[in-house]
Amino acid sequence: MERFSSAGMLMSINQAASTMVHEENGTVICVEKCLVTSIIEYAETLLKDLPEIYGVTHMRTTVRFAENIETTEAVNRDLCVISAALHDVGLIEGCDFEHETVDDNHGVRSAVIARTYLNKSGGMEDEAIDIVCTSMAQHCFPGTQTTIYAKILWDCDKLNMFKDTMVDRYLHHWQQMGMTRENAVKRIERAREYYRETFFTEYAQNMAQRYRVGCARKTVNHNQHDK
Ligand SMILES: [Fe+2]
Ligand SMILES: [Fe+2]
Repeated sequence: MERFSSAGMLMSINQAASTMVHEENGTVICVEKCLVTSIIEYAETLLKDLPEIYGVTHMRTTVRFAENIETTEAVNRDLCVISAALHDVGLIEGCDFEHETVDDNHGVRSAVIARTYLNKSGGMEDEAIDIVCTSMAQHCFPGTQTTIYAKILWDCDKLNMFKDTMVDRYLHHWQQMGMTRENAVKRIERAREYYRETFFTEYAQNMAQRYRVGCARKTVNHNQHDK
């Protein structure tokens, strides 16, 4: 299996896209694409029993944002996608969000699980594995992202809070946990206000702005419906 090269890791998005195919005996083979796909499948296997807002649905939404992220800095999009796919797998070991710390949280545990898997499965150089694992370990607390990849993961992860289909799931989940709809809506709004201030990329800021309109309308509809 072809490996991510050190030189290839910091190429621009367009250049990275061109490495998605590998020519061999006249046949175009999507080597890296297969690796990314198998990593996403592995993440799905781990996350399948978690609630949608932390599990497979959240992971797929985060991956989709990572596939489409735009940034002024040169990044390898595959590494963004791999970070997005594996960033919450640490939740399979259980999680007490209230008591997480910068050094001990589900992102740190995700990085440990991911490193073990990626080392064993092959196909990525140590430097590439370090990049994705650092991103995962830094995705839980604001202001701790030290790399462009960690910043992109922060944005892709938190953008879930702005996507209508995910908002429905958050509201449903929190109501099932005993929260009133009114408080669940307020929680969404507070989170959005907060995340809007923390986004690193213009892409995330624009997406947040775009989804804001849809949600505001939806929230009003929900409240009217409840009366
Ligand atoms: Fe997380
Ligand atoms: Fe997440």
